[in-house]
Amino acid sequence: MTSNSIIKIGDNELDEIIILINDYSGYDFSDYSKQSLQRRVQRYIDVNKISDFKQLLQDLINDSAMVNNLIEELTVNVTEIFRDPSFFASIRNELVSQLNNLPVIKIWHAGCSTGEEVYSMAILLKEYNLLDKSIIYATDINQTVLDVAKSGKYNLDSFKENENNYRESGGNKNLSDYYTVLNGEVLMNDELKSKIIFSTHNLVSDNAFNQFDLIICRNVLIYFNKSLQDKVLQLFYNSLTKKGMLAIGSKETLLFSPIESKMQVINAKWKTWKKKV
Ligand SMILES: C[S@@+](CC[C@H](N)C(=O)[O-])C[C@H]1O[C@@H](n2cnc3c(N)ncnc32)[C@H](O)[C@@H]1O
Repeated sequence: MTSNSIIKIGDNELDEIIILINDYSGYDFSDYSKQSLQRRVQRYIDVNKISDFKQLLQDLINDSAMVNNLIEELTVNVTEIFRDPSFFASIRNELVSQLNNLPVIKIWHAGCSTGEEVYSMAILLKEYNLLDKSIIYATDINQTVLDVAKSGKYNLDSFKENENNYRESGGNKNLSDYYTVLNGEVLMNDELKSKIIFSTHNLVSDNAFNQFDLIICRNVLIYFNKSLQDKVLQLFYNSLTKKGMLAIGSKETLLFSPIESKMQVINAKWKTWKKKV
């Protein structure tokens, strides 16, 4: 809330919004972290200069496009190419050898946002000659970010800024080897795009849809409360092949979750784990 906020979103207002969204869209945010949701709704109200909360509820009831817009505001979509380069270095050093032994590699990026993380992984696989035998599923709750991911088009400046991420992750080519530039935009190479299937999947309500050798879900669980985190970790466990690997965000954990005793740590700092059997 800024000092200019016209109305303040407290616990009751937040609950009313969560119920309304569920009733009118079927998206259930009740197990998201309240603190983060509160900040996002407050921001929506401040940016749109909304001064009457009851009127906001009425407008949302009458306008499904407005509900969709609010839902998109509730999810945080920040990401970048080779985000946390040391994480990708640990994949190169500690996970690739296991992937190498597989006849086909199935990977699931859950909560992939605009897709930079997925293309980073595809580039990495290509550098170990593993891309050809890989199938990468990339999912998110938000169709708008998935459309960007699917297009493979990004802002050129942000890619140039992150050229160092690629190098720091252990890449020894040029990031620009993996895209062409068109009208000031980056366009990811078709070879990378052809190995990725983008689709919507809601971690709150959708089930397991395949078996994966590696699941990557970073910076998503952090927005969920403990009971939803546990449920989603169980979904990941059920979706892993024997000895399958799981990577979560550096601020996330599976300690004290129902799957902790069934997983062994690969890298404690970069939160990579492996199914014990
Ligand atoms: C901060 S981004 C993380 C992007 C990427 N994994 C990274 O670490 O750079 C979080 C993503 O989780 C997605 N998300 C939030 N709730 C979700 C849900 N219930 N099911 C699937 N994706 C969800 C958001 O739409 C957003 O794109």
